[in-house]
Amino acid sequence: MSIEISELSFTYSGSTAKVLDQISLSIPQGAFVGLVGPSGCGKTTLARCLNGLIPHFHPGELEGTVNVCGLEVQDHHAHELAQKVGLVFQNPENQLIAPTVERELAFGPENLGVPRDQIRHRVETLIQQIRLEELRDKAPYELSGGEQQRVAIAAVLALEPDILVLDEPTANLDPLSAYEILQLLSQLNRDMQLTVLLIEHRLELVLPHIQELIVLANGRLVRKGPPNQVVTDPEVAKIGVAVPNVVQLIKQVNHPKLASHTPLSVGQAIKLILQEIKR
Ligand SMILES: Nc1ncnc2c1ncn2[C@@H]1O[C@H](COP(=O)(O)OP(=O)(O)OP(=O)(O)O)[C@@H](O)[C@H]1O
Ligand SMILES: [Mg+2]
Repeated sequence: MSIEISELSFTYSGSTAKVLDQISLSIPQGAFVGLVGPSGCGKTTLARCLNGLIPHFHPGELEGTVNVCGLEVQDHHAHELAQKVGLVFQNPENQLIAPTVERELAFGPENLGVPRDQIRHRVETLIQQIRLEELRDKAPYELSGGEQQRVAIAAVLALEPDILVLDEPTANLDPLSAYEILQLLSQLNRDMQLTVLLIEHRLELVLPHIQELIVLANGRLVRKGPPNQVVTDPEVAKIGVAVPNVVQLIKQVNHPKLASHTPLSVGQAIKLILQEIKR
């Protein structure tokens, strides 16, 4: 397993409320998994547990275990965990510090003492893979939000993690840039067998790409399963998860020929309707 969480509960120091409550969860290597839930349900807190930000930087009371690629996060330093789990946040500008994109990609591995020729190789590979050729000499603050987010993802990947955890990476992006980030994540998941855990409330963006959807509510894991089953579960809508219009539309049409299908994107819905009408 890539991520193995057992009976995880967490309370931030100075607070009495359990923000995570008895979460058990396994994610296999190479999976692309979505995580949703109402604001304040603990998504960011869970992400922080995966790379050791909790408990090493955000103190509190942690019960249970979090294991990433065979390492218990409580027992390993953040720099060790960063080579297993890369974390990307909503605001890339907070994560970008170097004078140029190229320097930004080299920064993490330099800090870990990776040999120069290996760093050069990693940086060149990422520049090709994430299509950053045109941006390599630019300063991160000169870039658009979508470009910055691609650089932030590349900078995290320069540490060669097995797992990429992204906390609402498209929240500040326009629809096209958000779509492109999802395409990129899908490509990285496919080509590098990278395990991707994506926190994203715009489900219509995520559903076509993921194998599993996890729903958190009040710090508890309330659903985990194939996206077509989870999004059509009436309890999930009740929790306040925004079920995409296309999923609702097909359910509300309630046509016998469509009833057994749950298209997860407009494209899939069109294909399905055309297929069924022609029959
Ligand atoms: N550093 C902290 N110290 C104390 N409490 C915190 C801290 N960070 C978050 N919390 C509390 O933990 C709870 C869960 O917060 P968290 O940020 O994990 O939620 P979230 O699901 O990511 O929400 P959102 O969708 O708004 O990003 C909230 O009640 C929040 O106030
Ligand atoms: Mg959050």
